Amino acid sequence: MNTNRNYKNLQDSYLFATIGQKVKAYTATNPDKKIIRMGIGDVTLPLAPAVITAMQNAVAEMGVPETFRGYGEDYGYEFLRTAISEYYIKKGANISPSEVFVSDGAKCDVANILDIFAAGSTALIPDPVYPVYSDTNIMAGNKIIFTHGNEANGFLPMPDESINADIIYICSPNNPTGAVYNKEQLQKWVDYAISKDAIILYDSAYEAFIQDDLPTSIFQISGAEKCAIEIGSLSKTAGFTGTRCGYTIIPHTLERDGMSLHKMWSRRQSTKYNQLPYIIQRGAEAAFLPDGLAQNKKNIAYYLQNAKLMSETFDGLGIRYCGGKNAPYIWLKCPDGLKSWDFFDALLEKANVVGTPGAGFGSQGEGFFRLSAFGSKENTIEAMERVKNFLK
Ligand code: MLT
Repeated sequence: MNTNRNYKNLQDSYLFATIGQKVKAYTATNPDKKIIRMGIGDVTLPLAPAVITAMQNAVAEMGVPETFRGYGEDYGYEFLRTAISEYYIKKGANISPSEVFVSDGAKCDVANILDIFAAGSTALIPDPVYPVYSDTNIMAGNKIIFTHGNEANGFLPMPDESINADIIYICSPNNPTGAVYNKEQLQKWVDYAISKDAIILYDSAYEAFIQDDLPTSIFQISGAEKCAIEIGSLSKTAGFTGTRCGYTIIPHTLERDGMSLHKMWSRRQSTKYNQLPYIIQRGAEAAFLPDGLAQNKKNIAYYLQNAKLMSETFDGLGIRYCGGKNAPYIWLKCPDGLKSWDFFDALLEKANVVGTPGAGFGSQGEGFFRLSAFGSKENTIEAMERVKNFLK
């Protein structure tokens, strides 16, 4: 048999798997150390009460014949698609329920969406960024062009007219840098995508962390309905990393090659995917209704307070960083010109704090380091004390 040889071009293991292995090896030989994990962006606050109540009610419904449900609706229950559509309409993005496709998370959608693009497409990918974009394009055998984010452009690369791409990835707030595009900048990306006949894949997984007057959806930008797909997630915004729920928005107006991308994705999903459990979809719906939104807003404020504490620590240490204001990540310059993985090892061994090496997000991330604000306040305070003692 022939294997997919593109896999030979991947690094041996996925970034967060490598970190997990390293931490496991360290704790095996140092069982008495209290490790503080600020690596993977995994939430720690429990699900909002409104979400729990909705799921409990749904469990009860599943337990009696009158309300029991078997297979769900192909693209997500109408009640959840409507709740998501209303969330977008409130922010000025005119999205109908039928343009929303529910799924088990943004990571899967970001990966699976490549099914509707021709093999051998050219992807324009920011560097540094969430490694799933490049890994999945490598797996698909696509051509990748990296667009560099750096201190000079505030980690917000802008379009280059000389580059032609089929797929353009934008992540705002950016994972890992926490940098957020403003309206004018996103307008330039939309205009560029239209002029190149390209499609923007807009990852809005961290949109709920935006506090300033900045776009939280690509569909707030004029013309996006002709060139963009948005992928959202409840993982970070409603604490669903373990519960799972994401969604992809594809406007009916999005066409290429005489084909409707909406129809292609509908076809793909109904063939290859069987939807989230009813119970989870009821919980997700609650996250978009007033009580759930208010409760999750408090959780986001809690994480942002951690981010503030971290920013203040690095301000005090005179270490340059990006993010931490409209995002749950702090992207800092490694001290003393250290490389990312060297700083990772030093921080783990000397301070027992786990972060994510910037180099894991692309070559431009070398020399940088990401810390997550998703821990508890107590752990964040303690981690910052340890970081101060280690770096002073
Ligand atoms: C991260 O830490 O970058 C994210 O948690 C990874 C993910 O969302 O899959």
